Amino acid sequence: MANTFTSQQTYIDEFNPKDYLQTYYVPGGGLLVGEWTDFVLQNLHDTFTKGEVRGETLLDFGAGPTIYHLLSACEVFDKIITSDFLEQNRAEFQKWLKKDPDAFDWTHIIKFVCDLEGNRETCEEKAEKLRSKVTEVLKCDALKKNPYDPVVVPPADCLLSCLCLEAPCKDIKSYCNVLKNFQDLIKPGGHLLILSAMNCTFYYVGQKYFSSMTTRKEELEMAFKEAGYQIVKAVYTPRADKSRMDITDYDTNYFIHARKPE
Ligand SMILES: C[S@@+](CC[C@H](N)C(=O)[O-])C[C@H]1O[C@@H](n2cnc3c(N)ncnc32)[C@H](O)[C@@H]1O
Repeated sequence: MANTFTSQQTYIDEFNPKDYLQTYYVPGGGLLVGEWTDFVLQNLHDTFTKGEVRGETLLDFGAGPTIYHLLSACEVFDKIITSDFLEQNRAEFQKWLKKDPDAFDWTHIIKFVCDLEGNRETCEEKAEKLRSKVTEVLKCDALKKNPYDPVVVPPADCLLSCLCLEAPCKDIKSYCNVLKNFQDLIKPGGHLLILSAMNCTFYYVGQKYFSSMTTRKEELEMAFKEAGYQIVKAVYTPRADKSRMDITDYDTNYFIHARKPE
């Protein structure tokens, strides 16, 4: 099983959004609730409150069945176009948008962001604001020249992606190529925000194994430069709780804020 690269077909057949949410985001036990969500939500809150990263459109790439990373963004963008490769993930996202009784309950995460923002609004108001900003849930494929093919999305002010590119990319060369293709999706002077996990070789979704690409800081930052971006900020935080390395073995959270030149 080790070193087996997960194919697109395996994603289509075996990635179960309910199992993913249960493993990683359920309150009180989800592996990513705490260290990972704190890292993402704090960094995005800081980035969006500084005032430079804002505008008309945010493109969210590879959301899976999750919404957590959009809670601060909805304060500073007029509209959010989200996307994922898998139909089952897009359907799960839509359930939350439509307040389907079967949708995942993100209240614990929404509360965390409301706290960060000084509780200007209630969790319900925050959720409604995000729902009102999401205008499209598109199919994307990181490995295509136009990842939204056949849809052509006008260049955005910002492209955000969390825990995604290590799934479809086999190596740093492929990752760099995806970043190059993202150039066409971002306005000149626009922003690219990538938050993810380093040195992850696998993650489980329920009983199913999925591979992940590994890289080093130097290679990673070089990929952004080679793809034509200026790095504004790079943050690396080691994983403190290593008690569940059998579910996923990443050892560092990273955040790269890069900018497309004017
Ligand atoms: C570990 S999950 C991350 C989900 C979510 N972004 C999060 O932060 O929890 C990896 C995601 O990569 C997506 N993915 C897999 N292959 C892809 C591809 N070729 N293009 C874009 N996304 C892909 C999967 O559908 C899945 O949603």
